[in-house]
Amino acid sequence: MTDESTDSGASVAGAGDRPEEGLDPRVREYTAGEEQEGIPFIGAGPGDPGLLTLRGKELVDEADLVVHAGSLVSSALLEEHCADAELVNSVGKDLEELIPLMRDAHEEGRTVVRLHSGDPAVYGAALEQIDALEREGVPAYVVPGVTSSFAAAATLRTQLTLNGVANHVAFTRPRGKTLDAADDHIGEFVEMGDVTTCIYLGTHAVSDAMDRLLDREGVDPETPVAVVYHASWDDEDVITGTIADIGEKVEDAGYRASAMVLIGEAATGAGYERSYLYGDWANGGSADAAGDGSNGAGDGAETTGAETTETEADD
Ligand SMILES: C[S@@+](CC[C@H](N)C(=O)[O-])C[C@H]1O[C@@H](n2cnc3c(N)ncnc32)[C@H](O)[C@@H]1O
Repeated sequence: MTDESTDSGASVAGAGDRPEEGLDPRVREYTAGEEQEGIPFIGAGPGDPGLLTLRGKELVDEADLVVHAGSLVSSALLEEHCADAELVNSVGKDLEELIPLMRDAHEEGRTVVRLHSGDPAVYGAALEQIDALEREGVPAYVVPGVTSSFAAAATLRTQLTLNGVANHVAFTRPRGKTLDAADDHIGEFVEMGDVTTCIYLGTHAVSDAMDRLLDREGVDPETPVAVVYHASWDDEDVITGTIADIGEKVEDAGYRASAMVLIGEAATGAGYERSYLYGDWANGGSADAAGDGSNGAGDGAETTGAETTETEADD
């Protein structure tokens, strides 16, 4: 504990106040997901306990104290992996409460884990907690998880990038209490046409967001939209429609939270073109034949002759 240690209720330094300028010196010392000293910030995945990573499961199984993200971490997962641990719901607790709670438990020698929904890197506010803990002398690190847009794509039996349909993916959220209207870019992403727009934190605002899209000249009201409520949970539900009618459908269903909204042709899984990976390239065509290898979906590096070219590999 340092002299500036945070007693419960005392102020915790705010976001962006990192202890060091630039990259953390531990970067390159560990690989992603490797067990490290301190408190792991674990991505719990979208809900199904089977979608927790093996490393996450090992760490959660051993925990004495699990601080979790409330209703977004499924009770099935908590029951399956945290039956013997003390559970603390982080919802409604500020940093001034959470940091001393985790710090004190860690310093008492208890095994503490912080469980975020999906992946902590996406709308998780993990870094401000990690930095605040480290200022208290408690190291912390991230164990990634399956983000909910990936689970929604799996539910929909589609890809977020789809050859000839969607070359880009945008993770975004709608304007609201924490995002100024000027910083809401959903309209720009949708207008681009070849982007799959994944809206987090927007279930309550689907109608509003769609109304704004309908006001934009460059947006086709018939653009497909899929809303996946509780992707991977037992009560998962899928609502499909278009920009013109999805708002009403979601309102009729009564969902106000916990859904992923995917906008774009890729949400249907239709209309794609055969990829370069399983076409010309597999048949011995040079990777250069596609120029930058842009004619496909996926990621990977493939060696063709002396040259390593980024091509489209299956995931
Ligand atoms: C605070 S953000 C956290 C996102 C999380 N870190 C992730 O990677 O999925 C919460 C939002 O994620 C989305 N979400 C989380 N779990 C979900 C699930 N199982 N199904 C659909 N959407 C989900 C919803 O849009 C919800 O409003």
